[in-house]
Formats: sequence, structure tokens, C-alpha cells
Amino acid sequence: MRVGQGGTGPGAHAPDGSAIELYEITSAAGGDDELINAAIAPNSSILELGCGVGRVTRPLLALGHQVVAVDESPDMLARITETEAIRSTIADLRLDRQFDVVLMMSFLINVADDAERLRLLETCAHHVRPGGSVLLQQEVPGRRHAPAVLENDNRTMVISDVEDLPGGAQAATLAYTIDGRSWSQRIITKNLAEDELAAQLATAGLRRTEYLTPDKAWVRAQPI
Ligand SMILES: C[S@@+](CC[C@H](N)C(=O)[O-])C[C@H]1O[C@@H](n2cnc3c(N)ncnc32)[C@H](O)[C@@H]1O
Repeated sequence: MRVGQGGTGPGAHAPDGSAIELYEITSAAGGDDELINAAIAPNSSILELGCGVGRVTRPLLALGHQVVAVDESPDMLARITETEAIRSTIADLRLDRQFDVVLMMSFLINVADDAERLRLLETCAHHVRPGGSVLLQQEVPGRRHAPAVLENDNRTMVISDVEDLPGGAQAATLAYTIDGRSWSQRIITKNLAEDELAAQLATAGLRRTEYLTPDKAWVRAQPI
């Protein structure tokens, strides 16, 4: 487990506390695939960082893109059989290849440790071709408040035990219930001010070129 993070509930968990079965059950791409597809050229080569069980990998393959899927969790990666899957931490990944698109979604950019975040961005920069795109999904700017209950279809997520930490980070517990089965995950994240992200992107050799969504959750960055 990563420091300060953990997960409870049925089945195996990735080092960040994500439950493998939870991601298998909630495998619908939920429009993320369409958003990404609309932002990139047809038949793009994509490096997907933190792919999980392939929730978005599979739809992107079906849309005609070539995807190389990366995750540090062997249990997550074992679910991906349709394409090349590489077990690695994002920070340590150094392939001798570049891609049209590097995708790092699921709020991985919101890791609370500034040095770790820079390493993630350096991996993105290393693997994107000149003129290519790094697509990032970040938490919507602003503080997290609890308790909060989010419900859709058969899934309930409750956010609780929000704790403000030094340096602008926050800890929170996310509890999921689906068809009577429950999981929880303790996360530590940091929301990034625009200039903070811009500065780290620049250090990694990238610059933000646009937001893909009005809420600024999806960011396109490109090599400087
Ligand atoms: C919340 S899940 C989301 C998976 C997928 N992106 C999706 O949208 O369904 C996060 C995934 O990222 C992986 N992950 C988190 N931090 C990572 C890191 N530093 N290096 C490699 N994988 C990481 C976890 O193992 C997990 O599979």
C-alpha cells in the first residue's frame, strides 16, 4: 500500500487502495472514452497510465486507437488481455517509444506529494511525441466537502472524514456500495491552482494548451 492510503472490502486491492472487483463491476466508460476520442486524431497511439482493469482501454481500442496500458497493480493488469499491458509505477516507466497521446486520468495528477507529481509529469513528457498531447484528468479546482453522497444507477459513493493536511492537501474516505457490497478507500489528494499546475508542467517540459471541459477537470498539455 502507498503511504497514508488503503482500501477495504471484497477482493484484492491495488497499492493505491483501488479495489479490483469494484472497477470490474463499474466497468462502463461513462463517456470518458468519447471525451478522449473527440480530443485526439483517429487511429492514435495512446499510452494509458494507471489503466486499472481497462475500463477506458477497451472502448478506446474499439474506437480504433492503439493503446499501451500501464499500471503498477498486477491484479488490475491481469484483466487486460486485448492489448500490450505493462506493469510499472508511472514514475519509473521509461519506454524507448513515444506516443501521439499520453493519457493520465482518474485524478492521479492530484497526488499530494509535489515531487511525486513532478515525476508523473516527467513520465508523461518523456513518452509524448513532439506535437502530441498529454491528457490529464484532475479534480475540479476547489476544496472537498463532506459528508457528501453521490448516487447514480446502482452505485452510491459517500465521502466522509475529510481532513485538511499541511500544504493544501486533503485526506478523505470514499465508501462505495453496489448491490449491497461495500468498499472503502482512504485517499490523500491535493487540488492544484492553475499557476501551480502550469509551473510543474513547465518544469517537466510541458505547457497547458487547453481545457477540454468547462469545469477544467480535463487538461491538454503539449511539449514546449
Ligand atoms: C482509480 S483506478 C482508475 C483506473 C482507470 N484509469 C479507470 O478510469 O477506470 C487508479 C489506477 O491507477 C493505478 N495507479 C495509481 N497510482 C499509480 C502509480 N503511481 N503508478 C502506476 N499505477 C498507479 C492503480 O493501481 C489503479 O489501477
